[in-house]
Parts: sequence; structure tokens; C-alpha cells
Amino acid sequence: MKEISALLRRISSGDNTALAELRDALKAKGWLDANTEILIDSQEVNPNPYVLKTLISAVQELLDRITDGEISPFKQPDENLDGQIRFAVTELGLPVGFNPEEGHGLFVGQTRSGKTTVLFLILDQALRQGIKCWLFVKSKEARKLLTVTKEMIVVDFKGGIEINPLLPPPGLSRGEWVNVFSDVFIQGFTVFEGTQNFIIELMNQLPPDSNLFDLLCKVEATKCFPPSGRTSNYKESAINRLRGILSGDLGETFKCRKSDLESLAQHNVIFEIGNLTASQQMFVTNLLTTWLFKYKLKKVEDAEADWMASPVEPFEIVPEDIARKVLPIHYIGLDDANLLFSKEIKRGFYPLAIISDLLATVRHARIYVFCCTHYPNELGESIKSNAFLQVMFALSNGDDVECMRRSMGIYELEMTKMCHRLKEREIIAKFSKRYVEPFFARVLEVENIPSEWVSDKEAYENNERILGPRKKTTERKESKESEHTKESVTSEKQEKKESQDSNEPKSEETAFLWDIYNRPYASIKERYDTLKLSASKGDRIADSLIRKKLCRKHKINLGYRGGMTTFLELMPEGYEAIGTPPKEHLSRGGGFEHDFWINKISEHLKALRSDWQVSTEKQLKGKFIDVTIEFENKLIGLEVALTAVHEKINLEKDFALCGCDYVIVGCKDDKVIEEVKKIAQDLNEGRRNKVGVCLLHELLRCKSLSEILNLGGGKNGEIKRDS
Ligand SMILES: Nc1ncnc2c1ncn2[C@@H]1O[C@H](COP(=O)(O)OP(=O)(O)OP(=O)(O)O)[C@@H](O)[C@H]1O
Ligand SMILES: [Mg+2]
Repeated sequence: MKEISALLRRISSGDNTALAELRDALKAKGWLDANTEILIDSQEVNPNPYVLKTLISAVQELLDRITDGEISPFKQPDENLDGQIRFAVTELGLPVGFNPEEGHGLFVGQTRSGKTTVLFLILDQALRQGIKCWLFVKSKEARKLLTVTKEMIVVDFKGGIEINPLLPPPGLSRGEWVNVFSDVFIQGFTVFEGTQNFIIELMNQLPPDSNLFDLLCKVEATKCFPPSGRTSNYKESAINRLRGILSGDLGETFKCRKSDLESLAQHNVIFEIGNLTASQQMFVTNLLTTWLFKYKLKKVEDAEADWMASPVEPFEIVPEDIARKVLPIHYIGLDDANLLFSKEIKRGFYPLAIISDLLATVRHARIYVFCCTHYPNELGESIKSNAFLQVMFALSNGDDVECMRRSMGIYELEMTKMCHRLKEREIIAKFSKRYVEPFFARVLEVENIPSEWVSDKEAYENNERILGPRKKTTERKESKESEHTKESVTSEKQEKKESQDSNEPKSEETAFLWDIYNRPYASIKERYDTLKLSASKGDRIADSLIRKKLCRKHKINLGYRGGMTTFLELMPEGYEAIGTPPKEHLSRGGGFEHDFWINKISEHLKALRSDWQVSTEKQLKGKFIDVTIEFENKLIGLEVALTAVHEKINLEKDFALCGCDYVIVGCKDDKVIEEVKKIAQDLNEGRRNKVGVCLLHELLRCKSLSEILNLGGGKNGEIKRDS
């Protein structure tokens, strides 16, 4: 825009050489219409004040329309944007589409912006082209797709369809599948590092047709020596995880020895996961997509092996052709990918969520993933970087818009502004190949959206038509009822037991205690997120644990927007409740808050510079320093001061005994700062200038070496604070 305005100024001041540049600039943006081009041509050949005026006002009008939002500031795309599966049109009416095997798609937008509608629009066309579709949705709305084809199975996880997650895809050995399954089993759940191997070992001992209930029995029957040792921790976390997976309706689906998975792999399927818990949703989606991937990959490997062994010239056919010959394309639609791709999932022992890992490889099995999300800023990078197609609808949160803007490489001011003011059906999109500029378009209007959903009865009948007779709903109900009676007897027993021994934590409380044990310095809010608890449920569990004196609450000021944040400390009774010996404190004689700061500050410093050697509780000539940084033969001591009581002696010893070149004292609050500053002032001049005093939370935000070492230069020995 700026460039074009500058060219107009040059042209109006008589510089005709700018005409060619104007033509090129307008062309590059796709804004050059036939009239403007004629005006430029004629002005070049035969300069004329009238033509000049008309040209300038035509281009100015174009710029005004862009500024007013009438025309988008994005480059007008050319016909390279078209593909077989169409979902939008550009401002100039050109169709926007992609081809069946171009890659994954990501659709982001606030609620009601039209993500699901565009996903269905795409799947509708895919189904008509014979592409197999698997869709994971939280409501029954996807049943609309039964109007496109009746060849669609609906799995609502209320029985009828049987899935045994322990059965490997045909052709895969039990051992291979056990490894894959254990990855899925562990992910997104706080477990001990050794739990996965523990599970693998037990699974390998099970008979071939075992299911998850058999695995649970096996785990429960495992004897642990010593009873409070590491194995008992693994056992406990495996039991928690299995019970979580098998609770409620999902248990019904898994209560089988055979499995319908192979049939499902050959059909279109809608998986309605809305009634499952968040952790079950994640497990089911990861498990089924991984199963499909392995199943298809095995098929293509077998076909490749046959081809290698066949007498045909190996050069006649390439491996991609073999995959094309033996495998159909699968589209996997994830209508709500917020949780699955959440960057939080990276937190456990595994660096990348399984689904993110799969994205990079599933195309080898001709699988493409299309997902919708409200919060792109909360997603890990994998989906953004692996998607062929990124589509942004209107978003209400500025951080989300910024995240998408960056992901699509939009930097011009006018374009950025447009990202923030998208209207109904308007999108900004980007392909990663073919036409790589971000562009503006409008989603195709979908007419005749069926308003009525297909009933459960119709869906079940259709399932039976495709898969053959299933267990009848009544049978399911009856068996459920008898199960229910059984369960209520056991739960009565359980309640009785709990009331007899009311200080025993319940299973969700045990999971919470384990989380505190595993991540002692996570805030209470972080725990709720990891354990997938709502704030009210999390509060209830935490309060109950505090009441039972299994843990204790601490409020710590993290400064700035962090403010006062709540943390929990495991009490000796808490350790006992989960059968582990208590952990030692990090600092000698220090409490939780002291340990907390030592841990957070040292983690921050380690992340800041890899060439600093950061240690905690280093002992030098008999004196312990909370945190030390060694760098280029300099020793910097860092003391955590919750009070100023020991700081005089600490400072003196850190210099005289330990030989620190500088000492930083991180103080809990302003009162402690004032007292420590007075103590520092009383040191001799050489040392006084080598003391830095600041608030503890400021240390978590210091960004550079100079910022920390810029000590003593100031009058009060303060370190430079972030603005
Ligand atoms: N392309 C379209 N053509 C016609 N109507 C549409 C279109 N897109 C959206 N709508 C209308 O907007 C409503 C909301 O769209 P949709 O359910 O797709 O939004 P969403 O982004 O998936 O919302 P949520 O995040 O709440 O699931 C639809 O029920 C439909 O009435
Ligand atoms: Mg939706």
C-alpha cells in the first residue's frame, strides 16, 4: 500500500518512469484491472494530463477501498488456488480448493464461525470421491453426513460396536503393538517414568485375546517387593490410568475379546466422543488413529514385499504406486482438536503428543488429518507446521490472531488489521505448496443444511445393515443393569470401607497426590489442567487433601501478572498415603517456599544460558550457597532471602569463605529488600559494589548476563529491573 502511494506521488509529480513500476506493483498484488492497465499503457506512450488524473484517481480509489475494508489488502490469487475439493471463493470469484492428497488441514475460529460447516463441506466432497472418512466429534451433528452416504457407521461408545485396544492390527506382532499401545496408554497422564515398561512387561505375559480388563486384573494381582518401592508406584499409576479408561460407557465398548476395528478401517465412521471424559477422548482418538495408521502401513509393507518378490521389473512401479494400489485414502476429521494438539501434552516424559508425531508420517499410509480448533495459540507447533492448508476464521482473542498471523507469514500492517476484523464466512488462508501467499476468501455458502439429526435407533439399524447383527440395545441395557447392580454392591462396600477409614484418599485424590509428588513445584492451576479437572472439582479434591492433612497450601507471590499463586506441599502423611518415602528438602533447614525459589530460579538460569554452570546448594569451604553460577572463572552466589535474618552472615561468608565475585540476594518482599540493602551498605566498599538486591520474582524474569552482573553500579546495589 505504502509502495503504491509513493509511486502515485512520483507519477503525479511528472516522473513517468514510475508508471512501469506501478504496473508491476499492481500486478504483483493481483490488483491490476484491464482499465488501469490501459491507462498506464497510454500514459507511457502518450503522456496526457487528463489520462494522468483518471489513472491517479482510479488507483487512489482502489487504495481507499482497501483502507475502508471493501477490498482485502491481500494479493489477489490466481487460478493456482483451485483444486478438486473446493471450499471457498476469492474476491474475484475464483474457486479455492485442494487436491485429495495434498496434506493436512487446520481450521481455526471462534465459536459459530463456521469451522465444522467447512469441515463437513470438505468431507461431503471427499465421501463422494470415495475417500474413506473417520470423524471424531463431540455432538451428534455429524450424523448429517448420513444424508451424503448411508455407508457410514456411527460409534457412540454405548456398546454395540466392540473394540479391543490390545489386539494388534492384522499382520503386526503382539510385541510391536504392545510398544505402540503403551505409548498411547501413557500419554497425557501423569505417571512415573517406569510405568510404561511395567505395563509392557505385563502385557507381554497376557494371553493373545486379552482385553484391558484382563490387563487391569493382571496389574492388580502383581505383587510388589518391597511393598512401598518403585514398582508399587508404577502399579498404582497403571491402575489409576486403567480405571480411568475403563470407567463409564467406554468400558462397555472395551468389554470384548474380539474387535470391530478391522471393519471400521474399511468403512466411513463417525466416532461420537462427547460423552467420554477428556482423558478418555484423548486416549480413544490417539489409539484409533494410531491403529488405523499401523494397519494401513502394514498392508502397504506386505504389498511392497510381494512386489519385490514378483518377477516384474522392479523399475516398472514405484513404492507410492503400490500404496495407491492397495490403500484407499483416509480423511480423519477432528472437530475439536483443542485438547489433542494442546502444547501442554508435551509436558510429561514424552516431548511430543502422539497425534503430532503421527501427522508427520501418516501420509505414507494415505491418511490426512483435518482439524478444527478455537485456540491456535494453545496448540503445539506440529499441526501448524505440518498442515498443507491453514484457514483462519474470525477469532476473538488477540493472541490467537497473532499466532495465526505469524504462522501464515502475514506481516504487512493492513493485512494484519484485516486478520483482526474478519466477518461472517470470511477467511484468511494459506497453502504450503502450489500457491504459497496468504490470501483472503469467502467460504462457500452451504444450503439445505439438514436441521434434523439421525436418531440413535436409525443409526444403530444402519450400523447393523453394514456390520451385521450387533448386541441388541435391550440386551445391552439388561447386561448394563446387572453390571450396575454388581457395581453398586461393590461401590457400597467401597463406601463402607471409605467411611471406616475416612483418611484414606480416594482414587482421584491419589492421582492428585502422585502429581504433587512428581511435580512438586507446579502450581495448583497447572495440576488441574494436567489432571483434566475443572476448577471446582480440583478445588474440592485439594480441599479434601488439605483437610486430611495429606498436603499443605502455600501462596507465593510470582509478581506481575502471576500475582499470588497457590502451591501444594506433600506432608509426611501424604507420602505415606501413596506409599513412598518422603523426599528430602532441597535446601538445608529450608522449607517449601525456600526450595521452590531455589528450584525455579536455577531452572530459569539454566534455560537462560547453556554456558553458565548453575548449581544448587553448592558447598564451598563448609558454607552452602542456595544457587551458584560459574561463568568465565567468575563465581556468582545467589541467596534466597525469605527474611533478612541470616543475610549479613551469608553475605560475609559468601565473599570471604566461598570466594564469590558477586552475590545476588533475592528477597521475598520490599521489607526484606530494605533490610538487606542496609546490610549491604555496611559492607566494605569493595564488596558493597558487588552485591545485587532484588525481588525473588524479578530473578525469574532477568534475561541476560549483563542484567545480573550489572551489580553495585547503582547507588543501592539494585539489579536492573524489567520494564
Ligand atoms: N458456509 C456456511 N454456509 C451456511 N451456513 C453456515 C456456514 N458456516 C456456518 N454457517 C452457519 O453458522 C452456524 C455455526 O457454524 P459452525 O457450527 O460450523 O461453527 P463452528 O465454528 O463449528 O462453531 P463451534 O466452535 O461452536 O463448533 C451453522 O449452524 C450454520 O447455520
Ligand atoms: Mg463446530
